[in-house]
Amino acid sequence: MTKIPEKTVILSGIQPSGNLHLGNYFGAVQQFIQFTEQGNECYYFLANYHALTTIHDRQQLLDLTRNTAADYLALGLDPERCAIYLQSDLPEVCELQWLLTTVTPMGLLERCHAYKDKVQQGIPADHGLFAYPVLMAADILIVRANRVPVGQDQKQHVEVTRDIAQDFNNTYGEVLTIPEPYIPESVATVPGRDGKKMSKSYNNTIGLFAREDELRQQIFSIVTDSASVAEPKDPDRSVLYAILKLFCEVETQAYWADRFRSGGLGYREVKQAIFDKFMEKFGPARTRREELANQPEYVEDVLKRGVEQARKIALPLVRQVRDAMGIRNK
Ligand code: TRP
Repeated sequence: MTKIPEKTVILSGIQPSGNLHLGNYFGAVQQFIQFTEQGNECYYFLANYHALTTIHDRQQLLDLTRNTAADYLALGLDPERCAIYLQSDLPEVCELQWLLTTVTPMGLLERCHAYKDKVQQGIPADHGLFAYPVLMAADILIVRANRVPVGQDQKQHVEVTRDIAQDFNNTYGEVLTIPEPYIPESVATVPGRDGKKMSKSYNNTIGLFAREDELRQQIFSIVTDSASVAEPKDPDRSVLYAILKLFCEVETQAYWADRFRSGGLGYREVKQAIFDKFMEKFGPARTRREELANQPEYVEDVLKRGVEQARKIALPLVRQVRDAMGIRNK
């Protein structure tokens, strides 16, 4: 991964949609941890206001929020070195969102894919979904983030944030920091069990914290063709190889690629290897996750410290925006 210059402010939001899977880890969490270890100023928050655009069950949202926080901590996001907080613990973000909506052209939001896709499919969209990118802009701008690591699907929203911030600065002066999206090139899309992109909405995930028997079942149900054990196989056309590779250093990747090509390798053996490597890599996080289930006060404390840190930047920023726009500060 490319080294980012120091003092870069990194921010990313995570929807508390539950049951983190391999795609979330290799596509996001792993980078979050690396950014933190490189000594950047990092903010990672749980986007529970955003989650309201899809989850309308009170208890479900509360549970998912708590569980997702524990999941991220278990995976090694270090609260001593980055701020981990809950979006709604920083309600000023909603105020900033409103202020930003007044410089956001309708057309900009009408082009955003989440809203556009829904409308095109003839599904009624609510205002929350339409305004979603402006809330996201507020999340980013409120801590003066300059890099926003996101998946390809969120790139457009970061570009919208840039447009809004530039419009704001043109109208009111150089107040906002213009962020850049960061899409890790080295991270290939993690395929799901059926070979399509791994995603909760395709129901093809391998859960990081699934019960061991479920996990085994998920890994052993990864699609394969009907080639016999003896037949040589093309690793680059195999979903199993694509998943196994994620866990391997370059030499070990070459070892497996070779075994695919030489024949004599059965798919069961590859599945077992994936299972073993999975357990080796995530075993400690899974144990830690069980411990955290019994330490809700610890998780609460992390979130409290996280939001205190974010507030230090966010509150003066909001005051500055109000002032620039002619809204008096008390
Ligand atoms: N919309 C993002 C997602 O669904 C989550 C998110 C909310 C976010 N606010 C953000 C990501 C700010 C990056 C920056 O994945």
